[in-house]
Amino acid sequence: MNERAKELLATRYGTDALPAPAAWTPVIDHLLGHRSVRRHLPDPVSDDQLAAIVAAAQSAATSSNLQAWSVIAVRDPDTRAALAVCAGDQSHVRDAPLVLVWLADLARLAHVAQSVQRPHAALDYLEMFVIGVVDAALAAQNALAAAESLGLSGCYIGGLRNQPEKVAELLGLPPRVFAVFGMTLGIEDPAAPPAAVKPRLPQQVVLHRERYLPVAEQQPGIDAYNAAMARFYAAQNMNVHGTWSVHSAKRIAGPETLSGRDRLAKALHNLGFALK
Ligand SMILES: Cc1cc2nc3c(=O)[nH]c(=O)nc-3n(C[C@H](O)[C@H](O)[C@H](O)COP(=O)(O)O)c2cc1C
Repeated sequence: MNERAKELLATRYGTDALPAPAAWTPVIDHLLGHRSVRRHLPDPVSDDQLAAIVAAAQSAATSSNLQAWSVIAVRDPDTRAALAVCAGDQSHVRDAPLVLVWLADLARLAHVAQSVQRPHAALDYLEMFVIGVVDAALAAQNALAAAESLGLSGCYIGGLRNQPEKVAELLGLPPRVFAVFGMTLGIEDPAAPPAAVKPRLPQQVVLHRERYLPVAEQQPGIDAYNAAMARFYAAQNMNVHGTWSVHSAKRIAGPETLSGRDRLAKALHNLGFALK
């Protein structure tokens, strides 16, 4: 176990100088193996697998047990193709046998309140939107981990937020429901180059003890990560220009880098979220 833990940690951090912690379990082992996979066989994800995945999703914690999320399982090729276009022509959305669309869902709560003749004015506040988004994300991550434990793999699709109203129209979403992201699922195509485990920032950058670590003191760890990612890009033959820092800076340079999501606040208003 310890040797395997060491190996998994070395891959996760893109370095070979890490002592493995004595605390280790098969669940941790499994989580460290995550990779986003973008090439799938057409073989369907079965209803049995879907039921197990959704049960795992529903086992995530949820704010005040409100369960302010839903998920739409999309198998229909035409709908997948339309979602792929919404997400900026991502071919893996079109080609994966199953796309799960994770929803922040305040419509059911509005209905529940109405059904017991109670007001639901709090739904119009940003806080309730955040609850829906957090709930959906926690459920989705449980689902992905469960799917991976079943031998499936997939990829989150934040690209669906490029065109929230179009996605809502395609999926028949009522007001107060927002597609936070999609998730492709299927069996990894063995003919495609295998997706690799992508290194993460060193722990000393993200794990702060007792108080926030000033960003200037995070810089040595960021430098080390830039070097680890350079090795990763080279090993994967990825044609990435510049370091991870440069790449990340490009992604946040301005509203034009948001692929249409700079208008997200307006889109959410159109979808029935007042966000007071
Ligand atoms: C909320 C979210 C949205 C994402 N959206 C996309 C997407 O639209 N397309 C895509 O190919 N990957 C997407 N990803 C995958 C990330 O690029 C990926 O997780 C990241 O590069 C780390 O790689 P790894 O998952 O293989 O460790 C998304 C990930 C998350 C968490």
